[in-house]
Amino acid sequence: MRVLFFAATLTLAVTSNAESQELKGGPGDAARGEQAYQTTCLRCHGPSQRIRSRIPGDTAAEKARWLDAFLGRHYAEDDKLRADLIAFLAQ
Ligand code: HEC
Repeated sequence: MRVLFFAATLTLAVTSNAESQELKGGPGDAARGEQAYQTTCLRCHGPSQRIRSRIPGDTAAEKARWLDAFLGRHYAEDDKLRADLIAFLAQ
């Protein structure tokens, strides 16, 4: 599992640069991401502050890349939903 995560993260890292995060779902909408968090993630994770502090990465771009790889297999397979969640969570 960990190796797969790493490989996915690495692939994303070489195909996008830190300045312009390219997400398949296009630029996300943080307000829609907040709504999606409430309906999809809150029941397991509680308030989003708790999850934010556990997202690996020093910059928003790094967090976005990690989330894109992770959430693609964790309750946010849909590209648009994932982009919105990333806009809300990766800051
Ligand atoms: C059914 C419960 C459940 C739902 C729904 C769920 N998660 Fe999780 N999530 C978990 C569990 C359990 C873990 C820790 C184990 C793992 O890595 O899979 C986790 C791990 C994570 C992590 C890694 C950091 C950590 O705390 O380990 C992130 C980030 C995350 N979830 C975000 C989300 C987001 C965003 C959503 C909504 C799209 C979501 N999760 C939906 C149960 C859930």
